Amino acid sequence: MMNNMSTEELDDIYTFAVDLGKQAGKMLMEAAQLRISGSCPAPERDHVQKENAVDLVTETDENVEAFIRSQIANKYPSHKFVGEESYSKGSSREYLIDASPTWCVDPLDGTVSYIHLFPMFCVSIAFIHNHKPLIGIIYAPFSNHFFSSCAGRGAFFNETQRLPLVRNPIPPMPENAPSGCIFSCEWGKDRRDTPDGNLTRKIESFVNMAAEVGGRSGRGGMVHGVRSLGSATLDLAYVAMGAFDIWWEGGCWEWDVAAGIAILSEAGGLVTTANPPEDYAHAPIEDVRLGSRLYLAIRPAGTSPTETGREGQERTVREVWRRVRNLDYSRPGA
Ligand code: IPD
Repeated sequence: MMNNMSTEELDDIYTFAVDLGKQAGKMLMEAAQLRISGSCPAPERDHVQKENAVDLVTETDENVEAFIRSQIANKYPSHKFVGEESYSKGSSREYLIDASPTWCVDPLDGTVSYIHLFPMFCVSIAFIHNHKPLIGIIYAPFSNHFFSSCAGRGAFFNETQRLPLVRNPIPPMPENAPSGCIFSCEWGKDRRDTPDGNLTRKIESFVNMAAEVGGRSGRGGMVHGVRSLGSATLDLAYVAMGAFDIWWEGGCWEWDVAAGIAILSEAGGLVTTANPPEDYAHAPIEDVRLGSRLYLAIRPAGTSPTETGREGQERTVREVWRRVRNLDYSRPGA
């Protein structure tokens, strides 16, 4: 039994979710092919703005969400559904996920990438029960990268390779992290140019993480590299893979992260809040709240001669918190 759900029931949902992800990813790729061949119908070519000029939706987002929603409603009529496009049409910005079995879906994460045919776009499907993302499916059809996980069964890349990819042994976090780490982050959609607003604070944090050790009044992190894929859920998938060491982001929503959190947690990663607590050096490191819109993820880590994997992850969390600014993405009910 898993959270009042039998193993058989969860297995059945997982099999269904894997198949659903494949079908939805195929729809995304067929739509991308139409864009490539130039035979894309006008309404699909012309994306529509939501909250601002970088918050976009295409007909593909809508079609794929409608498809996923109807498949779930047919198979599991009692389950709840929270999808990006249906949610965005409502006026409330409340966190709607409760303890009941719920599907949390982004039919097309990385919509801007999709519009520009940058391959980092995907479908992201999570099944959540008792507030815990138990199943995660992420399929990026352009690169044919398929990530999946089910609580207690493991996390997988293209269904056969266990995550993280390097696992014999799983490397510990670098001794002087964030130095030696790949740092992944997102510019996001809040582009308001207000003094000390989210955009300014993000950029200051990025520069701190990148700058030479000793720079930025001791905050320089000298990370190996900074990456920004334009899809929060894919960022998390690559953290689960072990390709990214750290992901730090504020502003995205539960459908942008739920499947990624499921996969990363099952692979052995850690996800907590992006915002440094006042006593960042000693504050307890708590599991992230799914609806908090503030996320800091650390890859799965192995033991070293001096610390456990978890200790290495927590040390890295504190080193990131020391270098980043608090972000403001409050919302009702979360
Ligand atoms: C966006 C992506 C992006 C993140 C934004 C999200 P969408 O999702 O995940 O990485 O920075 O906050 O809204 O709109 O492409 O589904």
